[in-house]
Amino acid sequence: MNVVIVGAQWGDEGKGKVVDLLSEHAETIVRYQGGNNAGHTLVVGGKKTVLHLIPSGILHAGKVCLIANGVVFDPEVFFEEIESLVVGGALTQDDASSRIKVSERAHVILPFHRKLDQLREAYAKRSQPDAHIGTTGRGIGPAYEDKVARRGIQVGDLLRPDLLRRKLEGAIFEKNALLKHLYAAHGGEQIDLEEALQVALALGRRLRPFVADARVLLQSAIAHRRPILFEGAQGTLLDVDHGTYPYVTSSSTASGGALTGSGIGLTSLGRSVEVIGIAKAYVTRVGSGPFPTEIEHTEPELAAKLRKVGGEFGATTGRARRIGWLDLVALKYAVEVNGITGIALMKSDVLQGLDAVKVCTAYRLGGNTIYDLPASIEDLENVEPAYEVFPGWDAYDAAKARSRSDLPAEMVAYMDFIERFVGVPIVLMSTGPGRHETLLLKNPFG
Ligand code: IMP
Repeated sequence: MNVVIVGAQWGDEGKGKVVDLLSEHAETIVRYQGGNNAGHTLVVGGKKTVLHLIPSGILHAGKVCLIANGVVFDPEVFFEEIESLVVGGALTQDDASSRIKVSERAHVILPFHRKLDQLREAYAKRSQPDAHIGTTGRGIGPAYEDKVARRGIQVGDLLRPDLLRRKLEGAIFEKNALLKHLYAAHGGEQIDLEEALQVALALGRRLRPFVADARVLLQSAIAHRRPILFEGAQGTLLDVDHGTYPYVTSSSTASGGALTGSGIGLTSLGRSVEVIGIAKAYVTRVGSGPFPTEIEHTEPELAAKLRKVGGEFGATTGRARRIGWLDLVALKYAVEVNGITGIALMKSDVLQGLDAVKVCTAYRLGGNTIYDLPASIEDLENVEPAYEVFPGWDAYDAAKARSRSDLPAEMVAYMDFIERFVGVPIVLMSTGPGRHETLLLKNPFG
């Protein structure tokens, strides 16, 4: 069996924990989109590790971790992450290059991508304070732009000095014009080709032992029926095609991205694939954009409480996450877009002790009731959520729960309702950050 993990909301659902848990059953773990805009927080044996780029399976000895072609890859962050894993004792330096492989085809984030991302964000914030995206500033958008504009630098190019020089010239040319005419007054210095080339070549020399044709490694795993875990980043509602465009990230976060982002075909895994959608028992969003069930303005005290109890501050940027009730219209949409076969419901413990718990089951728009996520951003900005209200549940000892019947009856009623509404079962309940604070109701690896 193979498993694809996707975020079913706006990211930060707890994918890292689920990937870490399920990695035990996989041999190869693959990151297939996004970059170090992700922040996967893992707590193992009471020790916290935050990963942005390296797959969360790395904490399981012996597992192979691939960074596939769909990722935008920042080599500097990659080396920092390896260093911190080595210092923390999770990895040895020798182990690193045998266990982690980076696709030659992945596109590279260079310092000028980061700079451009930050300049644009600062500019947009000044000129359109309500409409800027609120990116992570990690250069994700500019690197994907270069990729689709066919002027990107790929990991394999870092090992070929002549080709790299030619490609860098192409990548820098337009940016320097932009920096000179639009951003010069805001700190947009010109990019020096020779300097950029030397930086990139030095990164390439360090990267050489990690570079591989990841697709070939994956095909071999498929041919030998070795279980693969595909690790998605961000969430469905941030997908560049299916998310709340333009308030999205620049990659295909939905499960389709696992195919294009790793070089396997629609039928390559046959029937042996499960798609697990990770969803919190409430919803959060960082950055700008519509959020129908947001309670920051309607129930500000509750929002502040849930943010505190749930630790809802970005693992990548430290930004406070916006809080809202569970949105089943959006979750059902995520089930359809991804072909989700099971839900992992995270952080239901954060809601414990509330008198009432709400879930959104429809939207009202212009006097009508609608049951689908509108495609137009304007409509989405104007919908009003319609709620079903459930009695809350008391605190319980999550670590001792072995089956559904060990959970509070009110929580089980809430879970039953979610399953009926979205049409797929809850296969995992997480009730705390640690590996042991998990109830695995059905192992997707079989
Ligand atoms: P970018 O991916 O840095 O370009 O940011 C685009 C949007 O996606 C912004 O609203 C970010 O806050 C959001 N975003 C990107 N990565 C994550 C993530 O891992 N979790 C939650 N939101 C994210």
